[in-house]
Amino acid sequence: MNIDNKTAIRCKNRSYVQHQLIGKSVDYWFDTNRGDGDELHWLDVCCGRGVALEEVADYFSADAERRSRIHYYGYDLNADYLTEVNDLAGKTGIKAETHSGELADLRLVLNNHYPSLRFGAVTLVNVLHELPLHCVPYLLSDLLLFCDPSGFVFVFDIERIPFEEPEYGAIPWTHKEVGSVVSEFYGSLGYSGQVPIRPYGKNQNSISKQPAWHFELRPALLPVETWTRLTDDKQRDEVCNTVAVAIEKAFNQRLADIDKAIQRNARELRDVETGGTDSEIGLRELRKFVDMQLRDFWACYREVRSLRSGEAL
Ligand SMILES: C[S@@+](CC[C@H](N)C(=O)[O-])C[C@H]1O[C@@H](n2cnc3c(N)ncnc32)[C@H](O)[C@@H]1O
Repeated sequence: MNIDNKTAIRCKNRSYVQHQLIGKSVDYWFDTNRGDGDELHWLDVCCGRGVALEEVADYFSADAERRSRIHYYGYDLNADYLTEVNDLAGKTGIKAETHSGELADLRLVLNNHYPSLRFGAVTLVNVLHELPLHCVPYLLSDLLLFCDPSGFVFVFDIERIPFEEPEYGAIPWTHKEVGSVVSEFYGSLGYSGQVPIRPYGKNQNSISKQPAWHFELRPALLPVETWTRLTDDKQRDEVCNTVAVAIEKAFNQRLADIDKAIQRNARELRDVETGGTDSEIGLRELRKFVDMQLRDFWACYREVRSLRSGEAL
């Protein structure tokens, strides 16, 4: 199901904005309407090597009581990463369980292991760009379905892949694209309000330089029929089809925009090359730009075409 290399980086001297945000949301969960001793069940989907777990443990380093009330569940394709997650959990003192599997089997695995458990926190961090587009509607509905009515779903991703660290075939979503698709998802569940998608750029996050975004889904805001819509297979397919149409629209627009930009930049490149240039840096940047657009174009083109024929997650 994956697009390309699925790497999960761990770099202990960096603390990313996303982990601070998860820490704050977890803190808020504890602050609001919890009885003493209530545990937060936190499902980290595509958890990688457990960076979020480690960072949230750090966030609560001065609050051993809250930290001891976090129960972490990591899910990832890569079993070696999960061994690291279990080691980390041991070191941080946070209770953890991990399961290795494909996203397509997430529902099955969770229903088998925890038939009646709904999670107070469900996180998906730096994953969306690795997934084929047709998986996204089913993934969104699963994240919401496994979230406790008083909990939150937290999704974060980068908007751009650094040129120097290519992930061929990866599709980072823009803030605008994710906004239109999430609104359509919520609309199909009967919610008429806007879901704020928060952008992060260089200024807001001095450590991680990539532009990024995050949003949270809160089941408490949704009408009660949501659960029937997400559990009944026919209704769920209808919701997912609506979302797939929104994805197709957003990415067809992106293809048209990239196509125009490639033509414009290729013309400029030709002019500079034939006319000579006194700026080697300018030429290099222009070539780099065209190269990035070509990568992006083919990744999106392949995915948009497979959206219609795509199998369910
Ligand atoms: C870029 S890493 C992000 C890891 C982690 N969330 C973080 O922020 O450090 C993406 C992770 O998604 C996992 N992954 C990608 N596609 C998957 C799939 N189809 N099923 C399960 N895991 C998947 C990879 O194994 C990898 O650990």
